[in-house]
Amino acid sequence: MYRLIVRDETSLDEFRDQVRRLIAAKTAPRDVTWSIGTENDLFGEAPPPEATAPKFTVPSAYVDLARRVLCNRDPQRFALLYELMWRLLTEDRSLLSIFSDPLVYRLRQMEKSVGRDLHKMTAFVRFRKVEDDGDERYIAWFEPQHLILKPASAFFIKRFANMDWSILTPDGTLHWDRRELTTGPGVPKSQAPTEDVLEEWWRTYYRSTFNPARANPKMMKTEMPVRYWKNLPEAALIPQMLAQAEKRTGTMIAAPPTAPRRVAMPMMVIEPPAAEAGTLAALKREAQVCERCPLFCNATQTVFGEGSPDAPLVFVGEQPGDQEDLAGRPFVGPAGQMFDRAIAEAGIDRSLVYVTNAVKHFKFEPRGKRRIHKKPNINEIEHCRGWLDRELELIQPKLIVALGGTAARALTGKDIKITQMRGQTITQRSGATVLFTVHPSYLLRLPDAQSQRDEYRRFVHDLSLIPGRIPAVAKAA
Ligand code: URA
Repeated sequence: MYRLIVRDETSLDEFRDQVRRLIAAKTAPRDVTWSIGTENDLFGEAPPPEATAPKFTVPSAYVDLARRVLCNRDPQRFALLYELMWRLLTEDRSLLSIFSDPLVYRLRQMEKSVGRDLHKMTAFVRFRKVEDDGDERYIAWFEPQHLILKPASAFFIKRFANMDWSILTPDGTLHWDRRELTTGPGVPKSQAPTEDVLEEWWRTYYRSTFNPARANPKMMKTEMPVRYWKNLPEAALIPQMLAQAEKRTGTMIAAPPTAPRRVAMPMMVIEPPAAEAGTLAALKREAQVCERCPLFCNATQTVFGEGSPDAPLVFVGEQPGDQEDLAGRPFVGPAGQMFDRAIAEAGIDRSLVYVTNAVKHFKFEPRGKRRIHKKPNINEIEHCRGWLDRELELIQPKLIVALGGTAARALTGKDIKITQMRGQTITQRSGATVLFTVHPSYLLRLPDAQSQRDEYRRFVHDLSLIPGRIPAVAKAA
């Protein structure tokens, strides 16, 4: 019988080493116990390392599963993972694909729980600004359900690369200084800063996006589990807003429609290098850390516009899709391919134009492993509109093409019915002309091949008038 002491409980390397020794010593799972301990535990006993231990391979899916499951707080995880390894080697190498097997099922559930916690952490960490001797640092307190600090760090480094930040948790701490990540032991909540200006920002945002007519407390608790509320500034508003929802819904139904307010949000500003000031490159850099609305929480990155900085023609889409979100570039996914094909057929050279979106973060709803596109709402369009306005101010195009209703709303501030305005133009105060047409993903959603063909021809027709008006964007013959 072996009694194993695990010292670094999330370490795949340590677990792998112990498993190798156990397998080399032909130790059945019932002959080993696992416990979590420290350097001072004297009684842990493992099989000795074997110089001539037979080599064995395991499916890569096992390694991925183990990496996640080791972050689960369940103390049974080592024993369960070892039992799975033993059965993979002695019974059935395809065991991992048998989801009805109780052991596989339990480990998959543990893996899922860690994945959910990681997702919640990326959405619910709230930084507070702390100033010390002129230095600024953003500090967040978070209480994860599992031991996910290490795997979560990559997300925060990528998202907040240009900020100094710390994330404090009871299990450990992460500190980023724009170059290097350091870690430290866990701390009590009393070490975390309290209230700052960002708190009020989150509450303002939450108040402005809370729709009493759609309030669904059960759904809300699934999306934002109560466990996280105590560290979310906006959560303090929830009980009161739910209590008032019914009354507010009645008032909303009775009230005449109102135009949305433009809300000025405080924002973190990243100073551009002097040579870049006032350029699209500087604006793009600023937008990388945009937190004007919470869409940044779940998206991978800001997808800024790209193309010629003095293009006479700008295309404005709705928001990045799944592939654009991952690539960090607009119109590169399926709608982008449709767009490329159509503008090429209309005689326009993409390298001579500028392509951007009304909303710069991908809004989606997770469904299983997929991320399903969700239309941005008026608040999100309004919050992002500042970026689009500034892009257009710098580029000063002659013609702007609004691809679909969201772009039309961002460019005019009005609800435009594309079916009515398609092919028509208006002139902006800046002197630029705005041409309205459909969004390429509308064509992808049409149910039958014939209407797809017809609508595609109409789309190309809308665009084909452009090279005649702006020869500078025409494709070389
Ligand atoms: N749809 C858009 O509106 N923009 C993109 O970048 C991709 C799809």
